[in-house]
Amino acid sequence: MPELIKIEQTGRVVLVTLNRPEALNALNSQVMNELATELKPYDRDPNVGCFVITGSPKAFAAGADIKEMSDKDYMDVFHEDFFAGWDAFAKLRTPKIAAVSGFALGGGCELAMMCDIIYCSESAKFGQPEIKLGVIPGMGGSQRLTKLVGKVKSMDMILTGKMMNAAEALEANLVARIFPDDTLVSETLKIAETIAGFGKASTLLARESVERALETSLQEGILFERRVFHSLFATEDQSEGMAAFTEKRKAAFKGR
Ligand code: CAA
Repeated sequence: MPELIKIEQTGRVVLVTLNRPEALNALNSQVMNELATELKPYDRDPNVGCFVITGSPKAFAAGADIKEMSDKDYMDVFHEDFFAGWDAFAKLRTPKIAAVSGFALGGGCELAMMCDIIYCSESAKFGQPEIKLGVIPGMGGSQRLTKLVGKVKSMDMILTGKMMNAAEALEANLVARIFPDDTLVSETLKIAETIAGFGKASTLLARESVERALETSLQEGILFERRVFHSLFATEDQSEGMAAFTEKRKAAFKGR
C-alpha cells in the first residue's frame, strides 16, 4: 500500500493525492517510487482513461525534498542517477492532469509540467527556486518550462527564483484554466471524466501526437500524426464514433 500518495478510482478516472502535509508534499524518493510503481497497473488498464494529480490546498508540492538531498555529494547523485526515476511517471501513457493549489515549486512545478494539462486554483504559485539553493532544476524544469512559456519567461523564473501567480501562469500558457480554490479538484475531475469517456486508444495516441510536436520537426510530426490517424481506422471506436455522429446519438466507446 502506498503511504505518501492516496489513490482513489471513480469509474474511469484515478485521482492521485500527494499526502505528505507535514513537508508541504516535498517529493522524496519514496513519493517518486510510489508514483512510478503504483500508477503503472492503472496506466495499463483499458478501463482507466485519465489521471488527476493533486496536492493540498496549501501546496501541490514545495519541491524535491531538500533535507533528503542536502548531504549527498556528486558521486552519490551521479551513481544513483538521482531523479531519473521520475521518467517513469512522465512516461505514463494515460493522460495526466495536474490540479494545482498553493505552492508548486521546484520539483513540484516540474511534476505539474510532466502532466499533460495543468489546471490551477487562484492560490497557485509556480516557481523554480533551485538557484537559491545553489543548484538548478533537476526534474526537467529548464527544458519543459522553456518549451511551455518560452525562453524569456523561463529565464526570468529560473535565474531569479521568482514565483508566478495563477493569472501570470495562465497568461504565460503554463496552465490551461484557473478555477476557484474550493472547486478546483471537482472541476478537474469533471474534465477528466470527459477525457476518460473517449476511446482509450485514440486518447493515448492523441496525447502521443501532441507530445511528438515538442520532440521533432514539423514534417516528421505531421507524418507521425497521419500514420497514427490511419491506424485508428483499425479500431472499433472509430467505426462507433463516426456511426454515432451519423445516427445522431452519443458514441459508446469500448476502448477497442
Ligand atoms: N523539502 C523538504 N522539506 C520542505 C520543503 C522541501 N522542498 N518545503 C517545505 N518543507 C518543509 C519545511 O522544512 C517545514 O518542515 P518543518 O516543519 O519540519 O520545519 C514544512 O515543510 C513547512 O514548511 P515551512 O515552514 O517552510 O512553510 P512556509 O509556509 O513558511 O513556507 C515555502 C512555504 C515558501 C514553500 C517554503 O517551505 C519553501 O521555501 N520551501 C522550499 C521551496 C524550494 O526551494 N523548492 C525547491 C526544492 S529543490 C528542487 O525541487 C530540485 C529540483 O529541481 C527537483
